[in-house]
This record gives sequence, C-alpha cells and structure tokens, in this order.
Amino acid sequence: MDFPFQIRSYEAYEVAYKKSVAEPEQFWNDIAEQFLWRKKWDKVLEWNFKQPDIKWFLNGKLNITENCLDRHLAALSDQPAIMWEPNGITEANRVITYGELHSKVRQFAHVLRNNGVKKGDRICIYMGMIPELTIAMLACARVGAIHSVIFGGFSAQSISDRLQDANAEFIITCDGAYRGAKDIPLKDTIDDALVNCPFVKCVIVYQRTNTPVSMIKGRDVWWSDEVAKVAAQDDPEFIAEEMDSEDPLFILYTSGSTGKPKGVVHTTGGYMVYTTYSFVNVFQYKPGDIHFCTADIGWITGHTYILYAVLCSGGTSLMYEGLPTWPDAGRLWDIVDKYKANILYTAPTAIRSLMAYGTAPFEGKSLDSLKVIGTVGEPINEEAWHWYDEHVGKKRCPIVDTWFQTETAGILLSNLGGVTPSKPGYATLPLPGIQPVLVDEQGKEITGNDVSGNLCIRFPWPSILRTTYGDHERCRLNYFSSYDDMYFTGDGCYRDEHGFYRITGRVDDVLNVSGHRIGTAEVENAINMHTGVLESAVVGYPHDVKGLGIYAYVIMEKMPEDEAITRADIIQTVTRIIGPIARPDKIQFVKGLPKTRSGKIMRRILRKIAEGETGNVGDTSTLLDPAVVEDIKGGKL
Ligand code: PRX
Repeated sequence: MDFPFQIRSYEAYEVAYKKSVAEPEQFWNDIAEQFLWRKKWDKVLEWNFKQPDIKWFLNGKLNITENCLDRHLAALSDQPAIMWEPNGITEANRVITYGELHSKVRQFAHVLRNNGVKKGDRICIYMGMIPELTIAMLACARVGAIHSVIFGGFSAQSISDRLQDANAEFIITCDGAYRGAKDIPLKDTIDDALVNCPFVKCVIVYQRTNTPVSMIKGRDVWWSDEVAKVAAQDDPEFIAEEMDSEDPLFILYTSGSTGKPKGVVHTTGGYMVYTTYSFVNVFQYKPGDIHFCTADIGWITGHTYILYAVLCSGGTSLMYEGLPTWPDAGRLWDIVDKYKANILYTAPTAIRSLMAYGTAPFEGKSLDSLKVIGTVGEPINEEAWHWYDEHVGKKRCPIVDTWFQTETAGILLSNLGGVTPSKPGYATLPLPGIQPVLVDEQGKEITGNDVSGNLCIRFPWPSILRTTYGDHERCRLNYFSSYDDMYFTGDGCYRDEHGFYRITGRVDDVLNVSGHRIGTAEVENAINMHTGVLESAVVGYPHDVKGLGIYAYVIMEKMPEDEAITRADIIQTVTRIIGPIARPDKIQFVKGLPKTRSGKIMRRILRKIAEGETGNVGDTSTLLDPAVVEDIKGGKL
C-alpha cells in the first residue's frame, strides 16, 4: 500500500494541518480515496454537535476487512499479518500471513453465519490475547456483526451488564487465558454472567488452556468443531457483507463519571480512514515494519493499533499474550529482539513498573531494530520519559506521546515520530484534522499560549464516536452539552509557550489507574453493595507505578472488629462486581464524610488527605460538619 498521505517533514505537517482546517472535506476526501470502497461516497461530511449527528463519507459502501485483508493479497499474501508470542517461553510462537489470515477470517465468518449471526447483531468477545481474538473480530466485521470486546479483567457481573445493555445474543470466548503465572477461567466467568442473560443463543468456545469447562447442549459449541464443519464445505465465494460507511463496526464500553459504563459506538468508514491515517503518520510506519503494541485488545489502543489500523496499512502486528514482567522483567526486550520489532508502543504504567527492576534486564539485549517508541493512556512523568528514552530508545528513537480516548478511536494529539519535535510529558501538537480548544469553566475559549483549561475539540474528525449504544441522550449529555458546539474530552490541559499541549489528567470523576479508566461512582456503588457499608467515597491518589491508585473512604454501620479482614472482604466484593482492575489500593474506615449543606461530598478535601496532606486542606467553611475533616486526617489505614 502506498501512503501518499504520509507526512515526512515539519513543513509538510504545517501544510497538511492548514489544509485540514481550511478545507476539511477536501482534505479527508483525498485521504479516503486511498482505501478500497465498493461504492464511493456522495458527500464527505454532515454534522452538528447539538444532537449530535455526525456522518462521514455518506452512502459510501465498503467492508473494512477487505481493506485489512483482501486488498493486500496480491502483494503481501506471504507477509506476516500477525506474529504471536505466547505467554510461556517454551511454547512455539505463531506467524500468520495475510493469505492465511484471510482464509481463517473467511472461514470463521462462515461459522458465524452458520450459527445464525446476521448483519447488525451484537457479539460479545471475551478472550485472551491470542490470534483467534483477531480472527473473531475480523470475522464479525466481515459479516457485518457489531463486536463488543470485553477485557479479560472484568467480572461476570460486568459482562452481564454489557451483554444486557447491547442485547448481545452471541458470545465468542475461550476455556481460559494465560497471563503470567495464572490461568484465567474465562468460560467459567461467562457461565456466571449468563445466569442473568437467558437471551444469549450461542457461545463459541476456543480451547486454549484445556481447562475443564461446562458446555451446555444447544447453546455452547466448540470453535474447532464449527471450523471443521465449514472447512468441509469451504466456499471461496463467501462474500463479505456490504456495509454503509456509517454502519456500526463495534461497541466498546468505557467508564464515565456517572452510572454504569457506556457503550461507545464507532462506525466503519470514518474509523478506517482516520485510524489508518494516524497510524502511518504518528509512528511513521514504513512497509515491512514490525509493530509491537503491548496493549490488550480489550481496550481501544488494541482495537486500533494492534488490529485495524495496522492491517489496513498492510503492516505486521506483533501480539504478545502475557505480561511485561513474565517470567522476568526482560521479556519485552527479548520479544523486541526476537522479532526485530521496529515500533514499540506501550503505557507509562508498564514503563514505571519496569523501571523498578533497574537496568539488569537489558543485559544482552540489543533493541537495535527499534525506530520509534510510543506511550499512551496516561500522562507520562518526566523521569519515566527519560528512562524510556535512554534505556529503550537509546536516545536514537523518537518517543511519541500519543493522546487519545476510547471515544476518539485514534490518536488526536501527538508528535509524529522524528518529523515533529517531542517534549517530555507533552503530547505536543494536534494531528491534521484536529482542532483543539481550551475553555474555562464558563465555556469561554482561552486563547494564546502558556494557558490551561479544559480540552475540547471544535470540529469532527472521521473517527469521533457517533453515539452511546441504546442511549443517544447520554452521549449528548456526556460529551456535547458542557460547551456549545464542542466535543468535551473530560481532560484538563496546558498549552505551553510554543503551543504544545500537555494533558494534565481528568477533570471529571474518572480515575486513570494503570491507564485504565475507572469511574469513582462505579467503585463506590460496588463498595456500597458490601454488607454493613453505609456509604463510601472514592478518590485517586498518586501511585508510583499505577499513576493513580484508588483510595476509598468507607462508613460502616459499626466499626469493624478486624479492619484488615473487612478491608479484604470489601476488595473481594469490588472484584466480584466490577473486576480485579477496580480493586481499591487503600481503604480507610471513617465515621463521616465531608459534605456541603446540600449533601455533596467535597472530594477536593478527600483527595488532599489521600495525597498525604496533614495540614491545610483548603476552605472547610461550607461544610456541614467541619470536624469530620480532622477526624479523617487522624484516621489510619
Ligand atoms: O485522561 C486521558 C488519558 O486516558 C484517557 C482516555 O482513556 P481511555 O478511553 O481508556 O483510552 C486510553 C487509551 C487511549 C484520556 O481522557 N490519556 C490517554 N492518553 C494520554 C492520556 N493522558 C496523558 N497523556 C496521554 N498520552
């Protein structure tokens, strides 16, 4: 694939950026023409942010998997599409070429149709990081079904909430998943989730760990049996579904400041165009490069930068099943050397956890193949940035600090590797097509440089979310109602004297823990379900590895006799209700919470105390009972 839209100099970036603002329709029209469409669009863009109603490449027809696979067959059939490194170091790795992936996806698409899947059906995917996960996602897209991938760290209750919200009648899962020293019983968790979901018609189970699993007649089928059936009647003419540019491609659930996680909906044409554009430019991808993204596919980073954008570019995606510290802290460096990876894309939390092991894990590792290294998911502290630069990039690889969100699907703010300048801790500049704005609390735009405000985006880009599944009003309220005619990101941001952007963190009640988004309200609801709990308040506090840790203040009906046991029990309840990723790091039992006279919890004060402030926590005069503050300060963990 040629990339006439690849930006190769700072001057070219400026030209592209100016054009994208002056003539956005023409700009995206020209980029979209580089893809494979069955029918060209009639109009590039229609939009308003009021409702919101956003449509890109109207009436364009395509199937994204033909862009990921079919169009590369002539030139790249024997090139690896996916290279897979298993969790265990003694197990054989797998390399799947474009030709092989194409036939596996076609076959599994056939399996889905045989099992009654139709265009528009929602399919939940709950699998470990194995190539079959990518096959399952692409097969859904091939038949026009909407996948909803759920990260393996979510509990049965969370899965059941998501299945109900999307009314998903199909599930693709594994018996289990390997992660480090653990075997995670995925099918068991699905079985628990299904107790409340009688509408689920079919569960397809891939055998990965050979863990014993229950298989219910008439509902549960083995992946291998189903593939064997279609292999016998393989039909090379099996046609990919024709999708409209605005047909949904997937739903991905993410936490907000209120209520249950919402299903962010992305559509087909705009997602493909923008995410591929961002991949080729931010990472300066060159044909033949091996791209290693360590995210889990259960998050947006994995959807876009392990799967869709990489394959749409004809790239080779290196996928790793396990953990960066398994069996030792040199594993990522071993993988980079083994596959000669050219791009490494990881998260600050992984970098910080590896920093703790010092430099011994680098001994004997070359890392010479690397050209560009990236970070995503949370602000990167300068110490981690310099460590990454020195020990991983060896001061010769540009670091791209990429800012984006589940809702944006692709990177919006980032330097372009080696093409535009980097600055430690800064996502730096907007990609072409992205118009960032800083606003104050009243919604007034803050102009000029060396200023801080809430980050909004003024104009749509092709991969902006279209709705939240089943609840468009929630989408409007969450993202488009805070400020007139702008998409509100929920992030605070500083623009320095050169116009470079630095994300300072969430300004809503969302915590970013190890790069995972967790709503404080969600964690509080889970804690409040624990027997004996009257009320709770959750805030974030600085954590050396996770970025933010979860700090819970809990009021019990009566103070626990053994605080350690009650703490462990509460953690167990949260693990059951949400999943291990939402486990509180600290729980403090308190007699009261600082509340205003109208009953609002003053989180600002709780955050200060959680940060270790023992002196002044700010103005407490509006509190109903200022004495609570001293009581909490004097409490112990
Ligand atoms: O607060 C920002 C932070 O992660 C949030 C988005 O989380 P999620 O939708 O789970 O997607 C994570 C992967 C893209 C943002 O609102 N964030 C993401 N990237 C960065 C970041 N904060 C600072 N710097 C980044 N590079």
